[in-house]
Amino acid sequence: MHWFRAFSCRGFLATLLLSNVAHAINFDISDEQSIKDAASTSVYSMMTWYYGNETGQIPGAFPDKWWEGSALFLALLQYWHFTGDTTYNSELSIGLQWQSGDGGDYMPSNYSSYLGNDDQMFWGLAAMTAAEYGFPDRSTGFSWLSLAQGVFNTQVKRWDTSSCGGGLRWQIWPYQSGYGMKNSISNGGLFQLSARLARYTGDAIYLQWANKIWDWSVSSPLLSNTTWNVADSTNVDNDCATQGNAQWTYNYGTYLAGAAYMYNYTNGTTQDQWQTAVNGLLNKTFETFFLTGNIIEDFNCEPSETCNDNEILFKGLTSSWLALTAVLVPSTFDSVLAKLQTSGAAAAASCTGHNNGTCGVRWYKSEYDGWLGMEEEISATNVFLANMINFNKTAPVTSTTGGNSTSNPTAGEDDSNASSGKITVITTGDRAGAGILTAVFVAGWIGLMGFMVVGG
Ligand SMILES: *[C@@H]1O[C@H](CO)[C@@H](O)[C@H](O)[C@H]1NC(C)=O
Ligand SMILES: *[C@@H]1O[C@H](CO)[C@@H](O)[C@H](O)[C@H]1NC(C)=O
Ligand SMILES: *[C@@H]1O[C@H](CO)[C@@H](O)[C@H](O)[C@H]1NC(C)=O
Ligand SMILES: *[C@@H]1O[C@H](CO)[C@@H](O)[C@H](O)[C@H]1NC(C)=O
Ligand SMILES: *[C@@H]1O[C@H](CO)[C@@H](O)[C@H](O)[C@H]1NC(C)=O
Ligand SMILES: *[C@@H]1O[C@H](CO)[C@@H](O)[C@H](O)[C@H]1NC(C)=O
Ligand SMILES: *[C@@H]1O[C@H](CO)[C@@H](O)[C@H](O)[C@H]1NC(C)=O
Ligand SMILES: *[C@@H]1O[C@H](CO)[C@@H](O)[C@H](O)[C@H]1NC(C)=O
Ligand SMILES: *[C@@H]1O[C@H](CO)[C@@H](O)[C@H](O)[C@H]1NC(C)=O
Ligand SMILES: *[C@@H]1O[C@H](CO)[C@@H](O)[C@H](O)[C@H]1NC(C)=O
Repeated sequence: MHWFRAFSCRGFLATLLLSNVAHAINFDISDEQSIKDAASTSVYSMMTWYYGNETGQIPGAFPDKWWEGSALFLALLQYWHFTGDTTYNSELSIGLQWQSGDGGDYMPSNYSSYLGNDDQMFWGLAAMTAAEYGFPDRSTGFSWLSLAQGVFNTQVKRWDTSSCGGGLRWQIWPYQSGYGMKNSISNGGLFQLSARLARYTGDAIYLQWANKIWDWSVSSPLLSNTTWNVADSTNVDNDCATQGNAQWTYNYGTYLAGAAYMYNYTNGTTQDQWQTAVNGLLNKTFETFFLTGNIIEDFNCEPSETCNDNEILFKGLTSSWLALTAVLVPSTFDSVLAKLQTSGAAAAASCTGHNNGTCGVRWYKSEYDGWLGMEEEISATNVFLANMINFNKTAPVTSTTGGNSTSNPTAGEDDSNASSGKITVITTGDRAGAGILTAVFVAGWIGLMGFMVVGG
């Protein structure tokens, strides 16, 4: 992921004042139809930022922020799954396939020379979700399951034992700033993907890797299995002795959902390791991020109104992962649903912008706060649809419970562009620019991290 993205535009105060009589999105937690309608409104708004189906445009491409296409398609998958509305399925199917690239592993050559492990991983999770929701494979191209396998296969090859006893680095390429770090979203993301592949396919290799990534994570400063603190990153330079302990919802959410899949797949009992992990991470997530009114908040950037586009997406992703956790670990259902309901209602109350249901960032204010962007609409969609578990507890399917996406255990293995042995020369101004800007950001960020280091 790249951290230099422009902030979402803030509306003018005048507009805010003029929209006092605005139409709120109606969201009644006890009324299934009102939740579907709320999602229909936010998805429509989200899709006003999507041009990939227009003449001369590239399906699924967001050139400045490639990974965000996966967040958009994930929201469309959830929308179709929970409402049955097929309005956007064709764009979804075409775009999710197009960006997989020639190697079938979400390393498309237009982007592969500067994307990070987390960027690729998010696309893998979107493809995994397509398989788990029974979204039909395309008749040509790669199956959804094989795309998730392609991401897994290319990423496990990058497992790096040259420092810290293992782990994935944040970035893939040595010339990218962030190559010197191992971070939670990359490792927690691959952990979750492995757990989901294990549950879907039943293949032992995925279970082995899920266990291996978890064990490494708890041996590093990233994840504590006593306090359940999840740090953002750790440094390769000092062999992962220190942590950048910035707190973000999605770092917790990705390990939590992975643990929930492991619990469910291994037929966990109330005493087992995965139940303990789910309880610990869930408790810590609730305590840390559900602040005002039990409403989910990335407090690192929201009160100061400094969230960038990436960060606006985190709590939406986390809401989706909480919903999966509730379904896969039934003992958590009631406590998770209660938090999703307060958060969903508050998100809806933020969607009174511009007289057209535009959603804001700070849900905890329960009113429109002047922000405007695709990311705001994606996150609102995520939390609205997470509330659908109250009406439909259907678990993600597997290859033995109706899932028919075609498996390809060696997917992605032929893609020489995906191997960290290959260093592609950056040729265009755009790509060089991306790297430089990332470096500027990371330098500032490391400074901040040094300031914020606390014990895990
Ligand atoms: C809502 O209004 C804002 C401000 O005019 C505009 O930018 C946005 O595209 C509109 N949204 C929809 C869904 O029409
Ligand atoms: C693209 O999809 C949108 C729906 O999101 C639709 O309104 C529009 O007509 C489509 N454009 C083309 C060229 O298919
Ligand atoms: C729940 O969702 C699944 C998957 O979309 C669907 O097949 C099923 O009919 C839904 N069940 C109910 C009760 O709505
Ligand atoms: C890569 O760029 C070319 C040229 O613009 C375009 O035709 C192709 O669709 C792009 N592929 C992806 C995966 O974005
Ligand atoms: C590898 O990169 C080259 C150069 O960008 C490109 O032509 C080729 O299609 C890529 N191969 C795959 C499998 O993506
Ligand atoms: C796979 O399942 C989906 C959803 O149930 C269905 O639409 C599709 O036709 C099936 N595909 C095959 C090849 O059976
Ligand atoms: C917690 O992690 C450590 C490794 O850091 C491991 O030795 C220990 O067994 C784990 N505890 C539990 C309860 O899983
Ligand atoms: C979990 O239980 C199901 C149903 O009893 C069984 O088919 C499956 O093999 C079990 N899975 C594991 C990993 O033990
Ligand atoms: C796994 O999830 C399914 C679907 O919610 C649930 O019925 C089942 O009880 C879960 N397994 C365990 C061990 O809790
Ligand atoms: C959550 O953790 C706190 C300590 O941080 C503990 O007091 C509380 O009992 C825990 N709650 C649950 C439900 O485990």
